[in-house]
Amino acid sequence: MLKNLVVYISETGNTKQLAEEIYISLPGSKKDKEIIDVRSWNGRLDAQNYFVGFWVNRGTCSLEIIDILSSLHEKNIALFATCGMGSSKSYYDTLEQNIKVWIPNDNNFLGSYFCLGKMPSFVRDKYESYRGKCDDTKIDLMLSYYEESLSHPDNQDLLKAHLFVDKCLNK
Ligand SMILES: Cc1cc2nc3c(=O)[nH]c(=O)nc-3n(C[C@H](O)[C@H](O)[C@H](O)COP(=O)(O)O)c2cc1C
Repeated sequence: MLKNLVVYISETGNTKQLAEEIYISLPGSKKDKEIIDVRSWNGRLDAQNYFVGFWVNRGTCSLEIIDILSSLHEKNIALFATCGMGSSKSYYDTLEQNIKVWIPNDNNFLGSYFCLGKMPSFVRDKYESYRGKCDDTKIDLMLSYYEESLSHPDNQDLLKAHLFVDKCLNK
């Protein structure tokens, strides 16, 4: 059995970047750790510690991630994710709660790490298309999230991912 396994889903590359940083941060040689895109997941890999990563869509994660999380038992599990709609602690806490419910109780939850991830330009275009149909204040707020996300994940986010790994492994 592996010591550490990083499994992730990423549509546009932000979460993949974070996953690779987490993988690099993990101690041990290649026989102790593995990184895998969820689309190549066949359930055959097993580990003591799981670092499960996803991008946030409609306030939650994808079905593939839910399937993996709910299949795990007696493991140590850490979550990580990128998202675009804000970077407040309260938003991250809500996301953590939304996703944690899929982890069976016999696992040991190590914590979660969230950071912003840039969104494609069609998201901005969609918000702009709401002008005249929705409240301008709401549109401006969404556009400010879009703008804020554009430079992420940045070096600070990657450094924090590294620290997150250290924290999880010291638990
Ligand atoms: C179609 C779509 C829906 C999204 N929905 C959300 C959302 O509900 N909440 C959020 O915080 N971010 C949302 N985002 C932003 C993504 O989660 C963010 O850009 C993420 O970093 C993408 O990760 P990836 O590059 O690994 O695919 C959405 C992005 C797209 C393209």
